[in-house]
Amino acid sequence: MDKNFKQNVFQGRSILAETDLTPAELNYLVDFGLHLKQLKKDNIPHKYLEGKNIALLFEKASTRTRSSFVTASIELGAHPDYQGKDDIHLGTKESVEDTAKVLGRMYDGIEFRGFKQSVVEGLAKYSGVPVWNGLTDEWHPTQTIPDLMTVKENFGTLKGKTLAFMGDGRNNVAHSLMIGCAMVGMNVRIVAPKELFPAQDQIDLANEYAKKSGADVMVTDDIDQGVKGANVIYTDVWVSMGEDNWEERVNLLKPYQVNMDVMKKTGNADGDDLIFMHCLPAFHDTNTEYGQNVQAKYGIHEMEVTDEVFNSRYARQFDEAENRKHGIKAMMAATLGNLFIPEV
Ligand code: CP
Ligand code: NVA
Repeated sequence: MDKNFKQNVFQGRSILAETDLTPAELNYLVDFGLHLKQLKKDNIPHKYLEGKNIALLFEKASTRTRSSFVTASIELGAHPDYQGKDDIHLGTKESVEDTAKVLGRMYDGIEFRGFKQSVVEGLAKYSGVPVWNGLTDEWHPTQTIPDLMTVKENFGTLKGKTLAFMGDGRNNVAHSLMIGCAMVGMNVRIVAPKELFPAQDQIDLANEYAKKSGADVMVTDDIDQGVKGANVIYTDVWVSMGEDNWEERVNLLKPYQVNMDVMKKTGNADGDDLIFMHCLPAFHDTNTEYGQNVQAKYGIHEMEVTDEVFNSRYARQFDEAENRKHGIKAMMAATLGNLFIPEV
């Protein structure tokens, strides 16, 4: 056999950011995720990780990412082991390097959610096993793949569709979406106040991908211009985990709230060519402690999205949440399952 023949182009690799994948590989994982979702619906077993052990490291809280990794691992035949921030020595008594070396001798794959991208990079460098980024301050690739699955489920295609992200354009989700969409040929707009525009090097990178994929990247503080023609209106919390600047964000982002007016400004609100997406959790009412505090302090009872849009016919946030599991399953199976994927 040709010694250069590769049985699986993903095998053994880590996914720490969208940029760890080629655009073709990103598209492949989107389709593979949709395939695995169908297998599960049809009750067809797909235990590609039988006998494997997976460490799930969480420095920050999580509902979707944790549940997805746990259920995806089990459905793939693997054993997930949740390790919260107070359960292990990482960061307090033991370095990233030493932790990675230990975990790599016991586990077949590692998921990490936390603050610094350098930690997830260190785990990948020193563990010798595939590492998946379950969110850092910089990137959220296990969100992007399921999000693109959701867009494809709704429109049958990614290329040529337009996604407008409204809100904190510097956060992990905005960053990952801007790059991910540009890679797969989706037009992407970051609609945010100037203070919260993505860093210029990230915009440049998105433009590089967009040039190759035929997509268009726009970063603007003009809401009318930013949402015109959009097929997906996407938003995220105004204050991400690890941040505490509520007053500044409420003042800056109040005008960028997703409401029915914004949905109408797309020009697509009347037909089937418009959806609303949110990575969740969302502040669309006062049924949370944060929601109540913000109402008491700043007098608003909805933040990044109104309850009306959140419960409208455009809303796809719970499909998106469901897709987390299947997209994550695709990432795990492709990089650890010894599958036959010689090229993409
Ligand atoms: N979207 C997302 O990552 O959700 P969790 O914080 O609940 O994992
Ligand atoms: N930007 C948000 C995403 C949560 C899934 C955060 O980092 O808190």
